[in-house]
Amino acid sequence: MTKDFVKGERIVLRPTSRQDLSFLQGLWNDGEVMRYVGYPQGLGIDGQGAWRWFQLLEEHRYRDRDRQHWIVENESGRPIGEAFYKLEQDYCGYKASKMAGIDLKLARKFWGRGYASDALRTLVRYLFTQGFRVLVVSPSLANEAALTLYDRLGFEPKHRFWAEETKAEHQVWALTNTL
Ligand SMILES: CC(C)(COP(=O)(O)OP(=O)(O)OC[C@H]1O[C@@H](n2cnc3c(N)ncnc32)[C@H](O)[C@@H]1OP(=O)(O)O)[C@@H](O)C(=O)NCCC(=O)NCCS
Repeated sequence: MTKDFVKGERIVLRPTSRQDLSFLQGLWNDGEVMRYVGYPQGLGIDGQGAWRWFQLLEEHRYRDRDRQHWIVENESGRPIGEAFYKLEQDYCGYKASKMAGIDLKLARKFWGRGYASDALRTLVRYLFTQGFRVLVVSPSLANEAALTLYDRLGFEPKHRFWAEETKAEHQVWALTNTL
């Protein structure tokens, strides 16, 4: 397996490449996937928009080394979602050192099968190994699947805040490496 790949129990995180853009376009244009992040009709991104996004990602991940974006693959080697982290000092008002904001989205047909728990566990283990001390997420309070997931993995609820983008109340959840 390539060295940049991060292996979970059933999933693998592999750095996103240009060939993944049509998969990501499909993921982001699905309103069911995007509804709690403020796009209930989907993002409506086209090929050019996805390409521009990828160029920015490449610029940051090789120049600043403050983030990574992966495709989540299942045991059949099929892309089933995306995972992301970015170094943060102040995340929606929550401040900590050695902190990463993370995000996870799976395509709808792969929900409810334990892939997200596996992917999140893998991401957490990887980032703690990389020296991050605090991992944070900020789901909408209406996003029950996400809240269940973060709770299951031991994240703790912190402050709530109103997000203009989604016109909904969100909550910061944090997981601290106590080792
Ligand atoms: C948030 C999201 C990733 C959660 O995915 P999920 O499929 O609910 O989470 P999991 O993959 O861990 O699946 C858990 C469910 O699978 C079941 N499951 C089936 N087989 C399993 C297995 N082998 N191992 C573990 N769980 C299994 C669990 O019992 C659980 O069901 P339950 O919730 O009814 O108890 C997904 O809903 C999503 O992509 N949403 C859209 C994007 C989004 O909102 N992201 C969060 C932004 S903050």
